[in-house]
Amino acid sequence: MTQSSAPGKIILFGEHAVVYGRPALAIPVTQVHTDVDISDSSRAGIWIDAPNVNLHAELNTLPSDHPIASVINNLFFLARISPFPNLEIKISSTIPVASGLGSGAAVTVALTRALSSHLNFSMTDEAVNAFTYEIEKLHHGTPSGIDNTVVTYAKPVYFIKRLPSPDRRGAGGKVETFKVGGPFIIVIGDTGISAPTKESVSDVRKLWEADQAKWENVFDKVGEIVNQSRQAIESGNWEMLGELMDKNHSLLQEMTVSSRELDQLVKAARNAGALGAKLSGGGRGGNMIALVKPETAESVSLSLKEAGAKNTIITRVS
Ligand code: PMV
Repeated sequence: MTQSSAPGKIILFGEHAVVYGRPALAIPVTQVHTDVDISDSSRAGIWIDAPNVNLHAELNTLPSDHPIASVINNLFFLARISPFPNLEIKISSTIPVASGLGSGAAVTVALTRALSSHLNFSMTDEAVNAFTYEIEKLHHGTPSGIDNTVVTYAKPVYFIKRLPSPDRRGAGGKVETFKVGGPFIIVIGDTGISAPTKESVSDVRKLWEADQAKWENVFDKVGEIVNQSRQAIESGNWEMLGELMDKNHSLLQEMTVSSRELDQLVKAARNAGALGAKLSGGGRGGNMIALVKPETAESVSLSLKEAGAKNTIITRVS
């Protein structure tokens, strides 16, 4: 049997502006993960068992654009695997779907690594990242590439999207991992509202199209916040990092991607003693994050639940 696991991820700073070439910071969330087990099968076909999405089927019975089928078919094409072997594939995940925690990228990364290792088709991290980006593009249109990057490398990343150019392929961006000056704690609060990232990205695009000068300026401000945040993380300046979170949230509100529920959770976290808080990811629903001191982590988490969070995760970044 071959096994592989990939973590969830959360964006700390820079969502949306990252689509317009500004940097963003994101971290892996190891408390949640996708796990894939592959073994040879005695029955014909490739049998997929993914209870979280209620999938129990043979590969050929799935539509070709099915997310899991597209990973298997594209990878076998890339690796020139023919005829297809008989396999049992089990996929289980604790990453909530469509909530900005990178569940899609984690399934692709874990499945790709398990398949390539089971079939002795070696892939570097760069190759896994580039392949996952291609799969993300099939399902999400024009992703910046930040999800696949954090999930593949499972490290904090500073990411700048590669600007489109016809002769450029690859994982979609410039990636730097960075050192954390000391451990810090993030509480993630889930609104429980699933909001397609595609829609908020497209709404921001409409704003930008209507007044490019204004929005380029807003994105520049976000870019500055991201660079200052990286410095604050590297030097362990948590007070400053909290303030930067609040500033980034205000700019996201200006982009119209916050919501009443997200604002409510952000406010509850700040009132409970968080150093700063903001929405994370596409917005309109999904998750928010709060930077907390170790001694307030539990009380901020509790306040988030009282203010309507469906779930919270306390994650330590080091
Ligand atoms: O909702 P998430 O966590 O997948 O993040 C989306 C981040 C955006 O910047 C809004 C879009 C992107 O592709 O980077």
